[in-house]
Amino acid sequence: MSFNINNLVRENVKSMKPYSSARDEFEDFDTADMIFLDANENPFQNGVNRYPDPQQSSVKAVLAQQKKVQTNQILLGNGSDEVLDLIFRAFCEPKVDNVITLPPTYGMYSVLSNINAVENREVLLSEDFQPQVEKILEAVDENTKILFLCSPNNPTANSFSDESVAYLLKNFEGLVVIDEAYIDFSKKQSWMNELDEYPNLVITQTLSKAYGLAGIRLGICYASAAIISVLNKIKPPYNVNELTQLRALERLSNLEKIKFEIASIITQRDQLLKVLVDIKFVEKIYPTEANFILIKVDDANKRYDELITKGIVIRNRTTQALCENTLRLTIGTEVENKKLMEALQA
Ligand SMILES: Cc1ncc(COP(=O)(O)O)c(C=O)c1O
Repeated sequence: MSFNINNLVRENVKSMKPYSSARDEFEDFDTADMIFLDANENPFQNGVNRYPDPQQSSVKAVLAQQKKVQTNQILLGNGSDEVLDLIFRAFCEPKVDNVITLPPTYGMYSVLSNINAVENREVLLSEDFQPQVEKILEAVDENTKILFLCSPNNPTANSFSDESVAYLLKNFEGLVVIDEAYIDFSKKQSWMNELDEYPNLVITQTLSKAYGLAGIRLGICYASAAIISVLNKIKPPYNVNELTQLRALERLSNLEKIKFEIASIITQRDQLLKVLVDIKFVEKIYPTEANFILIKVDDANKRYDELITKGIVIRNRTTQALCENTLRLTIGTEVENKKLMEALQA
């Protein structure tokens, strides 16, 4: 496959000059004896009176070391939702280009395609929630820029087969974005190790799930340095705030704690799976590699309402393609899980 990122970048993005912030022009922010009168900030120190590092160098340095990539292969965003939006805006010409998504999947791909006026070609997953590779390739035309694969997939909870993903990476000439928001709960390896192999591979991850930091909004994109530099060019200058960067650094310095929490969530998931087998109204339990379980029940609307009256909020996925009468249950703490199990049994 001949892959050249320049064939995918929008013309206006190629020719634009990026905004140059005060902090871009004089980067050495830690120089103690400099007086900074360049960014119209308030000079009185309170910890956040200065603009944050636009390149989030400290966070990227830690991630680069932990994930064994170069810092220029990382882009950070205000949640992976911002990262996904930047990918649309860098590569998809509104009203001309299209992307392919595989429902049932994460709803933001379709929302972002609408916002960006980019056609979303939907190719349903198979009955067992795997990509239908030949149908996907049939849907491709010369304006197809991006294929979104979510693995493990939300809301189905399964991972896509390695063979299918590899086949798509080899045979689709646009970008293949693998959304690995739930990868830390999966037995499968991340596609991170394949970044050098596939120049069209883009991986998104997030600190919102396994890393327990949904509130700080930190999404991560890993790709070739060439792809990252395009995204960097169009990102808002200070898209990741100072508090987020500090909190992320603190959390990333304690991987043991994160591992412990992931293990505990997986134990609770196994516990819940065992109980679900004996619940009469549960008709199917789908395999899970995420921190949630998708189940098919007799009547999703009824069971959803019943759980609400017991003070438990889950997600009703019955309106999603291939998901009639399904409910999605996030794994909570041991105490929360016990309450859920009692409510289901009642
Ligand atoms: C598959 C998937 N990707 C991305 C996100 C959003 O991640 P973030 O919080 O980093 O924006 C979610 C959130 O539910 C998700 O399910």
